[in-house]
Amino acid sequence: MAAHTKTPAPQPTLEGWQEAYDATPERDVSFTTLSGEPIRPLYTEADLPPADAIGLPGQYPFTRGVYPSMYRGRLFTMRQFAGFGTAEETNERFRYLLDHGQTGLSTAFDMPSLMGHDSDHPLSLGEVGREGVAVDTVDDMQTLFQGIDLGDVTVSMTINAPAAIMLAYYVVAAERAGVPADKLGGTIQADILKEYIAQKEWCFPIDPAMRLLGDMVEWSTEQMPRWNSVSISGYHIREAGATAAQELAFTLKDGLTYVEQAVERGLDVDDFAPRLSFFFNAQIDFFEEIAKYRAARRIWARELKETFGAKNPKSWLMRFHTQTAGVSLTAQQPLNNIVRTAIEALAGVLGGTQSLHTNSYDEALALPTEEAVRIALRTQQIIAHETGVTNTIDPLGGSYFVEALTDKMEAQAYEYFAKIDELGGMVQAVKQNYPQREIADASYELQGEIDHERRIIVGVNRYTEGDDAQTPILRIDPALERKQVASLQGVRARRDAAAVEATLTELKRVAAGGGNLMPPLIDAARAFTSEGEIVHALQEVWGDYRETPVF
Ligand code: 3HC
Repeated sequence: MAAHTKTPAPQPTLEGWQEAYDATPERDVSFTTLSGEPIRPLYTEADLPPADAIGLPGQYPFTRGVYPSMYRGRLFTMRQFAGFGTAEETNERFRYLLDHGQTGLSTAFDMPSLMGHDSDHPLSLGEVGREGVAVDTVDDMQTLFQGIDLGDVTVSMTINAPAAIMLAYYVVAAERAGVPADKLGGTIQADILKEYIAQKEWCFPIDPAMRLLGDMVEWSTEQMPRWNSVSISGYHIREAGATAAQELAFTLKDGLTYVEQAVERGLDVDDFAPRLSFFFNAQIDFFEEIAKYRAARRIWARELKETFGAKNPKSWLMRFHTQTAGVSLTAQQPLNNIVRTAIEALAGVLGGTQSLHTNSYDEALALPTEEAVRIALRTQQIIAHETGVTNTIDPLGGSYFVEALTDKMEAQAYEYFAKIDELGGMVQAVKQNYPQREIADASYELQGEIDHERRIIVGVNRYTEGDDAQTPILRIDPALERKQVASLQGVRARRDAAAVEATLTELKRVAAGGGNLMPPLIDAARAFTSEGEIVHALQEVWGDYRETPVF
């Protein structure tokens, strides 16, 4: 017997509710999202989009998820970003994480590797192994994955300007371990446009960098069927201060620009698009994040299907990795960060992420300790196994508020697309500092809210007592830098110098002319040519990049 009575009670009217609502004063706060989006007190059925805009999981437009069964079929990959010291220390951390239930690997490189400098470059002093793992040659790449079956576990590598070099090292290291390139599963970030927009880790001018990325996409599409050729990233755009809508719009527009470039090179969109993947931030405004991911799936599906004419449904899938927001972590009362990360991770899961990294509570202070990273991983496991949120697909689907916010996000993204198209596309927009300026303005606005206490950050501008506990932090032993430099110099002493010179000469020839740079990069990897030597050779041909800063 249904609980409700037989004679239906008079239906409450919106007018009646509004009258009652208006009779009670509101709290003196701005009811806006973290991005400044005004939020109404109530959403109703009238705010829902047509049913086909919501759809079903695994079906176009994929608002509710990319796979028909989502987490009922397979949980999101627990993929903690990790790396410090030399390849040996990081290999130990990788094994530690796998032993504690992690299901995918994610490589953090140190700043010299990210910027294309060898560990013994003057600019590398004091940075080797500090923010990630030091990789100078193919030998380091082999040590990094020693004892890990690269045909079994998927590996992500967070490297951008020198991505093609690290991919060459990875392919050769796997080859030495008996795993051919076509068996390698994983992802390389390689999203170079977001570097000029936000993270600022570049080696080359924009146009040759775009060519190098195109070479890598073309080559891995042909040679590495299980490899995700680009991880089109919004994470760093958001961390730089962007709003959720800017993160969504600039990331997707970057991705569409890579699609345009690949099609212009003569690739069939259905050949490479299924292996494009994405990477988004999970910030602390819970519903805004969930709406962002759902809008991203719908936009990407529509643009690939309708604008680029992709026929393969796998081309329409916006598969993504999520990392909880680094900028939301506070150095004050760091244990509060466990709560922030849990809520942000929950947003990623309710938003349908395929892969997840949860930040450690101490990362506003240093790279994570083993204990902190274990708590971060356990956070994912609690969400996956205890909360019930993986029992059904897209549980917030059909929510008046979430669907309204999803629609709003989608509309805002298209407004940005139009502005970027007016500037001549994303490459031109980046050269004109358009996204950079938009992000700087948004970041300034948000910081002002915090500084004037219009936005409360617990432990920082309110509830600040109790911040006296000493937090244990990971310290990188400076001896590791010396160990890495000695190892690199040992490789240089043992290798065939003539072979190295020959590979660098061939690289410069191809870089100056046409042709795909991946084959000569793989030859350079096999000859133990170092990352810094390769970057320097390419800079001899292409030059480097000087940003025109915006204020
Ligand atoms: N039903 C059927 N099949 C399913 C399924 C389901 N419910 N769920 C998953 N699968 C299948 C998938 O189709 C896939 O099959 P495939 O191997 O044939 O492709 C397989 O199971 C694995 O599933 P996913 O591909 O969805 O999950 P992965 O974890 O393997 O891949 C990804 C996720 C987003 C596509 C991938 O690109 C990825 O792992 N990205 C990670 C990127 C990353 O780690 N970035 C970190 C950067 S850190 C950083 O930059 C920040 C720092 O700078 C501060």
